[in-house]
Amino acid sequence: MGDAETGLHEKLQGGYRFDSAVFSPPYNMDVEYDVYDDAKTREDYLYSSFVMAQMLAHCAHEKSVIWLQMGPNHVDFALPYDVLKQYKDAGWRLYNQIAWIKSGTFPQKDGSEASFGHYRPMNSNIYLHRAWEWVFMLALDAKNTVTVDKLALGVPYADQSNAKRWENEAGMRCRGNVWFCKHATTQKSAHPCTFPVELVENCLKLQGLKPGSAVLDPYCGTGATAEAAHKLGMNFLGYDLSADYIKEATKRPLGDEVYVR
Ligand SMILES: C[S@@+](CC[C@H](N)C(=O)[O-])C[C@H]1O[C@@H](n2cnc3c(N)ncnc32)[C@H](O)[C@@H]1O
Repeated sequence: MGDAETGLHEKLQGGYRFDSAVFSPPYNMDVEYDVYDDAKTREDYLYSSFVMAQMLAHCAHEKSVIWLQMGPNHVDFALPYDVLKQYKDAGWRLYNQIAWIKSGTFPQKDGSEASFGHYRPMNSNIYLHRAWEWVFMLALDAKNTVTVDKLALGVPYADQSNAKRWENEAGMRCRGNVWFCKHATTQKSAHPCTFPVELVENCLKLQGLKPGSAVLDPYCGTGATAEAAHKLGMNFLGYDLSADYIKEATKRPLGDEVYVR
């Protein structure tokens, strides 16, 4: 349990480098966290985002990737873009923007409609229910040597003649940058805003990482990133300010190569 900047500073002295950091920072939307104050001044919030972006750059190698998961802010629309700018200013380059659809209503084969994911009503006649969020893929490398394993999340061609046409022996195509990973209700958790294990697994698979790779979540909450890393045989390091969230995280299937602080 502890503060990520302090923890990472110590780890850095010991030569720590991560391969993949998958995380969702606080959004500064006055969410009621256990310990963290989510209502900072805009200036303070952006400054701490910059400090974290810099710390992550120090703990990265040339192929390290950050998957920065953020939601739109309907009070201050520009804020997520300004957070992204802090990462840019710290040397990170935007490689991909993914829309995570966390709840949605879809047509069914029988002509009906069915809704999936967690519906959170908005108490407003202006704003719609928030059904999607971003995942920004960032890397320090500006020469495009960081690549993604598109077919790790591949979708089979509906018409396999297309596979021949595109000379694709695997018979699969790229899933693209819109992912539907439904969001379970958070009512059972002590944490007000978690992300699903499946979302993290997608990021790690797309990066084409091998078992044993180093996965980091500086804001690990109740440990979705830790669980995904364990499922894929990777080592995990995570921090959170709240002892309660860490306690909940350690109840997940995590294995031995996991350090949650
Ligand atoms: C959006 S939540 C992340 C939730 C997590 N992805 C999950 O699925 O459970 C942000 C988390 O950052 C933690 N936090 C905020 N500032 C921190 C800091 N400086 N060091 C460590 N954790 C911090 C908060 O306690 C909160 O749990």
